[in-house]
Amino acid sequence: MTTLELHRQDLLPGAHLIGAEWRAAADGRELAVSDPATGKVFASVPDGNAADARAAVDAAAAAFPAWRATPAKQRAAILKRWNDLLLAHQEDLGRLISREQGKPLAEGRGEVAYAASYVEWFGEEATRANGDIIPAPVTGRRMLALKEPVGVVATITPWNFPAAMIARKIAPALAAGCTVVCKPAEDTPLTSLALVRLAQEAGVPAGVINIVTASRERTPEVVDVWLADSRVRKISFTGSTAVGKHLARHSADTLKKLSLELGGNAPFIVFDDADLDAAIDGVMAAKFRNGGQTCVSPNRIYVQEKVYDAFVARLGARVAALKVGPASDPASQIGPMINARAIAKIDQHVRDAIARGAHVITGGQRLQGPGYASDNYYAPTVLANVTDAMQCSCEETFGPVAPVTRFTSEEEVIAAANGTPFGLAAYFYSTDVRRIHRVTDALESGIVGVNEGALAAEAAPFGGVKESGYGREGSVHGLDDYLHTKYVCQGQL
Ligand code: SIN
Repeated sequence: MTTLELHRQDLLPGAHLIGAEWRAAADGRELAVSDPATGKVFASVPDGNAADARAAVDAAAAAFPAWRATPAKQRAAILKRWNDLLLAHQEDLGRLISREQGKPLAEGRGEVAYAASYVEWFGEEATRANGDIIPAPVTGRRMLALKEPVGVVATITPWNFPAAMIARKIAPALAAGCTVVCKPAEDTPLTSLALVRLAQEAGVPAGVINIVTASRERTPEVVDVWLADSRVRKISFTGSTAVGKHLARHSADTLKKLSLELGGNAPFIVFDDADLDAAIDGVMAAKFRNGGQTCVSPNRIYVQEKVYDAFVARLGARVAALKVGPASDPASQIGPMINARAIAKIDQHVRDAIARGAHVITGGQRLQGPGYASDNYYAPTVLANVTDAMQCSCEETFGPVAPVTRFTSEEEVIAAANGTPFGLAAYFYSTDVRRIHRVTDALESGIVGVNEGALAAEAAPFGGVKESGYGREGSVHGLDDYLHTKYVCQGQL
């Protein structure tokens, strides 16, 4: 096994946390963690099962009364300390993220700051979870709307942002007064364990955050326990639409509250009147962040006919210059993809597009041989002459592939952009102010970037419409998702 040297080696506890105890899986089974850059195993964590899942809910339910009764100011102070510790350990955490997830080190460090921003923001917001006093329609009454924590929350997080996604779920849960059981992705459990270790150090009491790590095979048994347990009042999930639908179906018996941040198929539209430099910068930032492995990554790039050829040529040149390599090389801009399944899907989309008439402007193949220590590398790719019938336009590719489709009219491109079951993010570039309002209103999407490729921020509501899910993360809406409203009517006053 290779190792990972950190300043704080105890950020790799090799155990998961239930109540106050860092422990092995109930039956001692372990899950190997490998580095996508080399394919080599470098750590292991518990491979949790149903018994671990039940113990985690027991601990979270036991901790809930005291945590909800803890004054918001105190909860806020703990979150502030957690934020400070995340930033103080940015280097270690950044290296950990890059090692298990594969993103370049600059992006790993950036993700730590991004994760901390949610912790800081929700810490501040904890003290502002105000209810309402409602003017009563009759005399002698006082009517109140109180905000209360929903209870125990289960968070299920993805591998593409192993720090940010857990922070964006746990921070509002704690701010609201909820306790948490969480299951990080099987490919990237280490970062989340390190985050929870620091949360404990920040003063989060025992049982308030419980984390169960588990392999792909055992994840269903962990999650099924949480779905069936009526003490779990909410599930927050980021991942595929298929799994989101499964969670929605199976949480119906206990009518849990759900936040589902699911798959996308983001359109990125460049109109003839766009500032082309800005559009190229925007698509580079949005498409190639984390090697295209983000759910808001542009998946269909529509360019209007007058600027199409210039756009394709310029995008091709920028993408061809991207440096692919492991996170250990500071020059790397695109790391390995997460695993063999991811590479196979990307390559399948590219092959399908070529077979149906797309042109490869740059890239278009796996990167193998000297300099690539695993089979997880894919050349950053630009495809031209792409149509909506191709697989890369219908499904999320989740990789460094930019498929470009030509369009003629605004009406046609709006219909194409909206012509999918998904609606997470959409982007467009135009300098025509009337068009900006028209297109913003017409796009069926939870998030719209107008002349901007970098959209997410802790103070903004992140989430989708249609089969991209429901619920919002970040912002006051993200806090509200962890609260319910109790109406109190006082009479005889
Ligand atoms: C995601 O890919 O799920 C999140 C991306 C982001 O926060 O920008």
